[in-house]
Amino acid sequence: MIIAPSILSADFGNLEKSLRRVKSAEWLHVDVMDGHFVPNISIGPLVVKGVKALTNQVLDTHLMITDPFKYTEAFAKAGSSYITFHIETVDNPVKLIEYIKSFNVKAGISIKPGTPVLEIKELLELVDQVLVMSVEPGFGGQSFLESAITKIKELNRLRSVNNYSYLISVDGGINETTSKLCKDAGADVLVAGSYVFNSENAKQRIDSLK
Ligand code: DX5
Ligand code: ZN
Repeated sequence: MIIAPSILSADFGNLEKSLRRVKSAEWLHVDVMDGHFVPNISIGPLVVKGVKALTNQVLDTHLMITDPFKYTEAFAKAGSSYITFHIETVDNPVKLIEYIKSFNVKAGISIKPGTPVLEIKELLELVDQVLVMSVEPGFGGQSFLESAITKIKELNRLRSVNNYSYLISVDGGINETTSKLCKDAGADVLVAGSYVFNSENAKQRIDSLK
């Protein structure tokens, strides 16, 4: 299982120290919020660039923004390894996937809890990652919505039937209980914010999720 600690729950007054606490994870998840697609505002490309300078971890940038086209170049050049956008925000997802890949960055697509897998079925052969939201995007520390499990199973089924290669990620409310449900359903990546960072021992939390 790949663990992607979400730096949304990090200490932004001492980000370097927070990053050291989660250095045993292969990935870092970076939540970008614009106060428009979601009610919260978080960080921009400058922070991604700063994080990139401090770590060799895979930087998994999750764009919760209304205009992902406009900011893809900046997040790519800042050092993102993956850029994931929300299907709910774009009219031409194929064009955006190609645009993300043109920067040699892997492309991901995300669906909110209310969006069915059917909405992205045609895109599955094109993407490197599908990010299933298991909370309403916008804030850390919410409870896991079990409807995500059905979606993970469906994505896992579609992947094996069609021989697709995307990773299945789950984002929101991950802890020692919900992680098992996700694993059994076929998830590859667990994004975890509060469970990892709101602990004395982040490394032990990462190990337990693994
Ligand atoms: C929510 C973000 C998540 C969030 C997860 O909009 O996409 O990545 O940080 O936080 P927890 O693990 O606390 O639910
Ligand atoms: Zn996220």
